[in-house]
Order: sequence, then structure tokens, then C-alpha cells
Amino acid sequence: MQRRHFLSGSLSIAGSALLPFNGHSNDLPVPPALPDGENNEAYWNLVRQQFESPQDLINLENGYFSHQPLTTMQFHQSAEHHINTQTSLFMRRDQQHAIEEARTSLATLLGCNAEELALMRNTTEALNTVIMGFPWKKGDEVVLGNQDYGSMTEAFQQAAARFGIVLHYAAVPLHPQNDEEVVNAYLKLCNKKTRMVHLTHLINLTGQVIPVAKIAAEAKKRNILVAVDSAHAVAHLQFTIPQLGADFVGASLHKWLCNPLGAGFLWMRKEHISTIWPLMGDTSQPRENIRRFEHSGTRPIQTLQTIPQAIVFHNKIGSALKEQRLRYLMQYWVAKVANIPKIKVLTPWQDSARCCAIANIAVDGYTPAELAETLFKQYKIFTVAIQHPIVNGIRVTPHLSTKPEDLDALVNAIRKITQG
Ligand SMILES: Cc1ncc(COP(=O)(O)O)c(C=O)c1O
Repeated sequence: MQRRHFLSGSLSIAGSALLPFNGHSNDLPVPPALPDGENNEAYWNLVRQQFESPQDLINLENGYFSHQPLTTMQFHQSAEHHINTQTSLFMRRDQQHAIEEARTSLATLLGCNAEELALMRNTTEALNTVIMGFPWKKGDEVVLGNQDYGSMTEAFQQAAARFGIVLHYAAVPLHPQNDEEVVNAYLKLCNKKTRMVHLTHLINLTGQVIPVAKIAAEAKKRNILVAVDSAHAVAHLQFTIPQLGADFVGASLHKWLCNPLGAGFLWMRKEHISTIWPLMGDTSQPRENIRRFEHSGTRPIQTLQTIPQAIVFHNKIGSALKEQRLRYLMQYWVAKVANIPKIKVLTPWQDSARCCAIANIAVDGYTPAELAETLFKQYKIFTVAIQHPIVNGIRVTPHLSTKPEDLDALVNAIRKITQG
């Protein structure tokens, strides 16, 4: 792709001017020195200016997907405009170069080998590739978590019906006292038939972070493969893929990396590439080539093309500071409501190694749906009700664009609701 051609010069669509670009860049200032950066509101005000938020409500449901910073959105629009102008010339001649550029910059962010990284549409596609494409034998056993995301649980259930594998669900404690409690919840279900353990790195229901590397290390000793759902962990927590010690990792980039909707990845250890069946048949690539998992027909390449730009924005803040800020925002509001007698916090919020942006609370006398609806209708605060066999409460997810005042409004609303 001739990036310079479309990045230089102003582009316009239907009369609205798109800003000119000079490569992947943005105007964020250099972050303040750690460790007091997470509450330097002057800096975070500048970051906030990069995002557009609704004026008539407070959005505290940023867990579904993230809005893009303006620079990322503008880049994405310019890329789409370019493709729309070039049409099949771009698709036939430049598409693969754009994909390779995205792969390389994502591999650098994740600290992994680009030849082990497939670009996918989302976590669901990434992990379904593994779950549906693994060479299961009837009677193979899998240990998954009782709070895993529905799409993965359902995929394993379908694989159980289709291939005859046997599933066991680890009871992950809501408030573990130590890592061993979580590790043991998985290990006690492992036996000689266990082929795979499936871990949700950061549980979407409660925001709990589980000790993936410790569980993976124990699984390795037992010759068990480890698949990790890092949908909420990538670009939220600071880590590299090799640090996890896993065999397969799937994630979405439209969550915490703030890429446009419809991008994710599947990473797998090189030795597994030839053993997994792609979801879409591909015999044109050698079996050892990670690209055979990317065979998904004609797709919006501008979404993938924007990944390097989303990474530029992310790096400008830096993984460490972003993680600290997100955890700071969560602890800021939870600390103010945790002692209210009618409230139960369902997130291990005081243990920094086990939490970050997401928290979940239950209020006595309210179903999750009633509580979320009351906050929305009476206070114009948008959260999400979580109704689940293990977790019942509202999930609150601030973002980089969240102001402490937004969280004060939430705290005041919760105080009024619990006094009522
Ligand atoms: C833990 C977890 N895994 C997987 C997913 C699925 O992500 P996607 O819809 O982008 O595939 C989600 C979505 O919220 C999630 O929270």
C-alpha cells in the first residue's frame, strides 16, 4: 500500500474534510512521570479531548467495545476513502502489504513472533478456530472456567456434542485469598485425559484477573495445552504473550486497544499451526503458515490497516500508565460505595493484581436489571446488568475518557438508591 500517498494531503468525503495525516501519529503530550501519573487530571483532560462522548448521559459501559480516539477514527476514515477510490487495485495489489504491516506492529505490541499471529475479526472467531479446529479425540477432557464468556463456553459445548469431548467447569472464587486458590480450582479437575485448559484472562462479568501464567505453568507440567481468552486483557493490562506461557491466545482489538470494530487476533505457538484445522478451508498456504487461519473472504481491510495507528495512540500513553489509570478510576468509585451495608462488591477490587477497570456491584433489593434501569432512567448513567448463574450485579466500566466527576455522579446515585 502506498501509505504516503493517502496520508499526505487532505481528503474529503461528501463535503466534510478529513484531516491530513503524516504517517501514524497523534498530538498527545508526553505523559507525566510515574508513579503519580494516574491521577494527573490535567494530563487526562488532554487525553479525553481525543475522544467524543455522548453529551446527554454518562457512559460507564465501555466493556462491550471502545470508542476510538479521533486520530484513530480519522485514520480509519481516510483508509476507507482510499480503498473506496482504489477499489480492486488496492485489494489486488496492496491489501496483503497492509495486513503484514498490521501484523508486524501488533506482534511488537504483544512481544511475540509475527509468524505466530493471525489477524481475525474478534476473539470469538479466534478461539472458535482453536476449539472447532483442534484434533480432538473422543473422551478428551477440557477444563474451562465457570465464568468464561458465553461464546467460548458454547463453542466447547458444541465441540462436546460434535467430537465427544468431556467438559469440566472450574469454580473460580469471586474473592480469592491467593493465586493458589484459583490455580487449584483448575488443577483439581485435571487428570490424564485432560487435553486443554481454557482460561479467561480478565473475566468480563466481574473484572477479575486470573493468574494465567501460574495456571499455565502447572498445566505444562502435566502436558496439558492452555488456551487463553484475553479479550479484555489486551491493551488493558501490561503483559506480553510469552509471559503467559500459553499455547493459544485470542483477543479483540476493538475493546481496549480502541481500534475500529471488527479486529482481533489469534496467536498460537508455532508447533500447533499445522495441527489446527482452519474454520474456512485453506489449502493454498503451507500447513505451517499462520496465514491459513486468515482465509475469511473479502473483508474490510481498513479495519486491519488502522491497527498500527491504534497502537501509536496506545503507546503514546504507554501500557503501564494506561493500566494504572484504569485501575485508579475503578478503585476511585468502588472505595466510596464498598462500605454501604446494602452493597456487595463482586470484584476483588482492593487486590491490584486481580483487577483493573471493570467492577461489579450488587445492591440488596434490586435485581441487576432494575438497578441498571434506575441508573439509566433516573440518573442518565449507562451501565450493564449482569445476570448469570454465578454473578448478579451491574458491571461498571470506565474508560480513558471517563472523568472522576462522572464517577462521583455514579457514587451519588448509588447512595441515593441505597438510602431509598
Ligand atoms: C471475556 C470475553 N471474551 C470474549 C468476548 C467476545 O469478544 P468479541 O465479541 O469481540 O468476539 C468478550 C466480549 O465481551 C469477552 O468479554
